Amino acid sequence: MTDPLLALRPWDAPEVTSWGRLPMNAVDRRAGAHSLDGGWRFQLLSAPHAPVGGAWSTATVPGAWTMQDTDDLPQYLNVRMPFAEFPPRSPAEDNPTGVYEREIDVPAGWAGRRIVLQVGAAESVLLVHVDGRPVGVSKDSHLAAEFELTGFVRPGGRAVLRLTVVKWSDASHLEDQDHWWHGGITRSVLLYTTDPLYLADVDVRAGRDGELRVDCRVRDAGGALPAGWYLDGELDGLALAQDTAFDRANAEDERVSAFLGEARLRTRVPEVRPWTAETPELYGLTVRLHRADGTVADTSRHRIGFRDVEVVGRDLLINGERVYIRGVNRHDFHPLTGRTVSYDDLRADLVLLKRFGFNAIRTAHYPGDPALYDLADELGFYVVDEADIESHDHAHEIADDPRHLNAFVDRVSRMVLRDKNHPSVIIWSLGNESDYGANHDAAAGWVRRHDPSRPLQYEGAAKRGWADPEVASDIACPMYAPLEDCVAHALSGEQTKPLIQCEYSHAMGNSNGTLADHWAAIEATPGLQGGFIWEFWDHGILQSVNDGRPVGRGGAGLYDNGVAAPGYRWAYGGDFGEKDHDGAFVADGVVFPDRTPKPVMYEHRELAAPLRLELFRHEGLVVSNHQHFRGLDWLTGTWELVLADGRTLTAAAELPALLPGETAVVPFPLALPQDGGEAWLTLRVTTAKDLAWAPRGTEVCTPQVLLRAAAPVPGPAATGPVEVDADGLLVHPLLTAAPTLSLWRAPTDNDELGGMAPRWRAWGLDALVRKVVSVRREGPSVTVLAEYAGTTGVVRHRQVLTPVEGGVRIDERAELPAEFDDVARVGTVFETVAGLELLEWFGQGPWESYPDRSGGAPVGHHALPVDASFTPYLRPQESGGRHGVRRFTLSAPDATGLAVALDEPRQVSVTRYRAEDLTAVAHHDELVPRAGCVVHLDAAHRGLGTASCGPDTFPSYLVAPGVHRWNWTLRVL
Ligand code: GAL
Ligand code: MG
Repeated sequence: MTDPLLALRPWDAPEVTSWGRLPMNAVDRRAGAHSLDGGWRFQLLSAPHAPVGGAWSTATVPGAWTMQDTDDLPQYLNVRMPFAEFPPRSPAEDNPTGVYEREIDVPAGWAGRRIVLQVGAAESVLLVHVDGRPVGVSKDSHLAAEFELTGFVRPGGRAVLRLTVVKWSDASHLEDQDHWWHGGITRSVLLYTTDPLYLADVDVRAGRDGELRVDCRVRDAGGALPAGWYLDGELDGLALAQDTAFDRANAEDERVSAFLGEARLRTRVPEVRPWTAETPELYGLTVRLHRADGTVADTSRHRIGFRDVEVVGRDLLINGERVYIRGVNRHDFHPLTGRTVSYDDLRADLVLLKRFGFNAIRTAHYPGDPALYDLADELGFYVVDEADIESHDHAHEIADDPRHLNAFVDRVSRMVLRDKNHPSVIIWSLGNESDYGANHDAAAGWVRRHDPSRPLQYEGAAKRGWADPEVASDIACPMYAPLEDCVAHALSGEQTKPLIQCEYSHAMGNSNGTLADHWAAIEATPGLQGGFIWEFWDHGILQSVNDGRPVGRGGAGLYDNGVAAPGYRWAYGGDFGEKDHDGAFVADGVVFPDRTPKPVMYEHRELAAPLRLELFRHEGLVVSNHQHFRGLDWLTGTWELVLADGRTLTAAAELPALLPGETAVVPFPLALPQDGGEAWLTLRVTTAKDLAWAPRGTEVCTPQVLLRAAAPVPGPAATGPVEVDADGLLVHPLLTAAPTLSLWRAPTDNDELGGMAPRWRAWGLDALVRKVVSVRREGPSVTVLAEYAGTTGVVRHRQVLTPVEGGVRIDERAELPAEFDDVARVGTVFETVAGLELLEWFGQGPWESYPDRSGGAPVGHHALPVDASFTPYLRPQESGGRHGVRRFTLSAPDATGLAVALDEPRQVSVTRYRAEDLTAVAHHDELVPRAGCVVHLDAAHRGLGTASCGPDTFPSYLVAPGVHRWNWTLRVL
């Protein structure tokens, strides 16, 4: 007999969004539920109609089968669909279908109760059977599906539950997001029971004025509601009673029958503590449904926050304040489990974001696990909740295709129905990269009626024009818009909506240049309110190099500090043998796959600093509170006076009591010594007490001001001779390669995808040929003239080597021809003997910094092992740079080594890799460190920009042709 669910062929039926599924609601049934997580019998079929009957293995639920012991491995594609069929079709024959089965023992005590199955998430089509009988169907891979099992199971008995998950379907065309394709049940599965009389939904509205309204929908399994039911509840001890005015109005309204089962609790909370991302004040709400005899039939618990969100003119206001949106786009990702994320992992993500100054999350590009929103409420984030709609590859065909209309409305409405009570959710998003059509407007219309309390956004609609009065977007939310266009729009007088970029500053590899310029413009331009960095994760899956398989759950401990253990690597597109893939484009986050922060995180932390420090005409220090809603009392600090002579003097800081937006002048904490040269004052700000997201003492920001600039120091007097070889190359006992000119860096992802690196290669900058023109001795100095020839131009280079006390001073001049109008760097490269392991420098640090990403690295005396100064980007590229370096030493454990002093603050990197070592391999684990160090010191170094997806760096960070001059001194320690 054909199974009716299979006969329905729901994977081939875009109009069918579900069958037998219960409506989505906001009653949280997780507490006290009966978990079905764990090992299930499992078979992977080649297609949904293939017979079940092979051998069973075991699969872990929740968990994608693509990350477990199957032959169906993850595949990474950005835009292109993984199969050729046009929507709504999917492959008829080759369609991995997972059959999950297990027994459930139904407690006898469940007799008389409603029994409900909840499947947290399954992609992309879920079929449910109990004892072979069809129960239901669901699509919408990132939201739960519930089915009533009451009539299918017998309390006190045992039943076989089968969940069949079909990987490819019409729904896949709506789930074409830019990440790995997986298959399976990726969130928890559970059973819960209720009384036949139950709360079907609870809708909370809580404003910053303390007005609370809780609308409840009551249902009875029997259909008609029993007479006399009523509600009550409490809010942190404050009793709530049913709103009689609402009941009266319902009674008088002839359209309302007793069947409707609606009731309202209402109160006004005096002196309410409003919820904001800075002050995530939550109240405990309990709603109780009573039978006529007063006994409790059902209870629903919520943690709620009182807050308002509104768009007024071109401002997005939270509780009346125009807040900055310091956001990040976050996918569900884990290097061991793919799409399945535990509560602890979600918490760790959000804690990290909090520590680095983020206050907003866009759930790119589908709703997250319910716990994500609980944590956002609790820790304090503004959430743009995005529906699971991305039809990227066939966007235009689908947006107006009525066959997909149900799915659009279904996906958007289910998200809203689930998440509407979370104070953290401030904006609904209709999805991503799906063009714009009537299907969007239909979904938008539903949201507008159901939840008028929040704005709506959709990039595809905003694309029509940022001021366009389209129904589907209250926010101008472009992606990767050039900053000058944003500023021009804000200044045009035409702006009608807040401008908050849904994606900007693409974090692929060594990136996020000009973030500080963006924030300077945002803070200076009314109408600009921030944006969401793309994205949080580098989606590198931990893979065994040996067998090419994902390591899976057992891999904890096989990575550390951003790097996979020997024998393992972070896999990106193509590493699982995929024929079609989009390579390392999936590694574009601000954290490594193990959540180790990339250097840009420190830049972001500083840009988001709650407290700012400025120097006021050298008379005093101005401290300002840069937050929107709270004082500085949660912070404390230490002053550090950094002197060029190597001293760092410290003093405890007392932070002024300041309301948001206020400033105060504070006296200098430390007397500036007459001597000591260049001097900087840093305020190291830390948390003053334990917070939910940071223990006391966690660093929050390190604002810094220059107190005294460096005075020019006369060059040291010349001494004995300097040795050069016949080619004019310096001979030095500590150098294995003499200082030569470099115009090349191992291309970053931005350099490659932005088209710069191909141009540099065409010019031959990666393989300049040096030809010595003359070597002249004049007194103690040697002047070496050389030419570095590319394929299209010649760079003339002069080095004057002068022996000085303990070393040699090198004056350099390079003249770039006009055609080399945008190069990676102009500077010196040399290599050292082995054994020099410690890098100490005076300059910006300690983390990696570049000319257009140096805001989070204060000037100081820093020290790091050479190996630790390198940043292990998944695809090797230029990394490990330090901006604003004045001098550095490189030493062996016995303190021997070399010291370099630079004429002015320069870009420096000390690594174990030549640029060509980095470009020769595709993964970090393939790099073989050299024994010695490769040292670059640059007269000029190009900014990083974000051109892998979005704007390049700004003209001021480009390296111009013409003459560059720099000098430096090399000494032996
Ligand atoms: C955007 C898209 C993201 C991602 C990003 C590039 O266009 O919305 O999903 O693909 O580009 O990494
Ligand atoms: Mg896309």
